[in-house]
Amino acid sequence: MTALRHYLQFKDFSREEYDYLFERAKWIKNKFKRYEPYHPLFDRTLVMIFEKASTRTRLSFEAGMQQLGGSAIYLNTRDSQLGRGEPVEDAGQVISRMSDLVMIRTFEQDIVERFAANSRVPVINGLTNEYHPCQILADIFTYIEHRGSIQGKTVTWIGDSNNMCNTWLQAAEVLDFHVHVSTPPGYEVEPERAGLYGTDHFRQFADPLEACKGAHLVTTDVWTSMGFEAENEERMKAFADWCVDAEMMSVAAPDALFMHCLPAHRGEEVTAEVMDGPQSVVWDEAENRLHAQKALMEFLMRGRIED
Ligand code: CP
Ligand code: NVA
Repeated sequence: MTALRHYLQFKDFSREEYDYLFERAKWIKNKFKRYEPYHPLFDRTLVMIFEKASTRTRLSFEAGMQQLGGSAIYLNTRDSQLGRGEPVEDAGQVISRMSDLVMIRTFEQDIVERFAANSRVPVINGLTNEYHPCQILADIFTYIEHRGSIQGKTVTWIGDSNNMCNTWLQAAEVLDFHVHVSTPPGYEVEPERAGLYGTDHFRQFADPLEACKGAHLVTTDVWTSMGFEAENEERMKAFADWCVDAEMMSVAAPDALFMHCLPAHRGEEVTAEVMDGPQSVVWDEAENRLHAQKALMEFLMRGRIED
C-alpha cells in the first residue's frame, strides 16, 4: 500500500520526485496520443470540490481521471453542505471515506490543510488564494518539452504577487532556478506568505522591463484573482504599466517563451501581440494540465511505477 501523501503546495515534493513526475507525464502523454488505453486507476473515484470557478482545472482532472480508468464527481459550495457551514474537518472525514482521491479549489490555504489533516485519501490543491501547484507542475513540464531542464534558468514574473507567483517562487527553490519579480508598489512578494525558505532564488524589480532582461521565460497572470474582485478598480489603475508587451519580450533571451495560466485579459496583463505571438506557448501549457495531473494522480495513488 502506498503511504498517504498530499499535494498542497509545490514544496511538498522533492526535486527527485519532480524529475520522476515530468518523465512520467511525458510517458503518459505519449501513450495517450498513440490511442493506447492505460487504466491504472480503474474503479477509483476522484472527488473534485470547487468553491471558485474553473474551466481548465475541472476539465483536466475530470477527463484525466476517466482516461486513467476511474471516475470523477464534481461538488461545489452552492449544491453541497459545504456552503451551509458543515465544518471542513467533518467534510474531510466523510468525503474521504467515499472516494480515493480529492481535489479542492478554495479560498485560504488553511482550508485545504485542514481538509487534508482529516482525510484518509490524498488531497490535491486545485488552487487557493496562496498557491496553484498543479499549474506550475504543468508549466514546468511545458518548459522542459520546449527547452529542456529549467535548472539555472531565469523566469520573470510580471504583475501581481498572487498564488501563481508564490508557487513559481517555491518551484525555484525546489528545482534550483531564478525568478525575477516585478510588481507595482504595494503588491510585492511576501516571502512568508509565499512559503519560502529564503530569498536566494528571487529578486524583486521596480521596473518590469529591467526584470525581463535575459529571461528564459516571461509569465504573468490576471491583475485581480478570484476572491479579490472588490479591489478590481484600484488594481486596474495600479497595474497599468505591468502589461507584458513586445518591448519586454525583446529584452528577454532571444528564445524566451511566454506563458499565462489562463484565463487571460488581452490588453491588461498582456498584449494580444505577445499572447498570440510566436513565443507564446499558452495552449501547450493548458493542454499539459491534463498530462501532468494524470502523472500526479497516478503517483499519489499508486506510487512510482517503473516501466
Ligand atoms: N489555469 C486555471 O487553473 O484555469 P481554470 O481557472 O479555468 O481552472
Ligand atoms: N491567479 C488567478 C489564477 C486563475 C487560474 C486566480 O486565482 O484567480
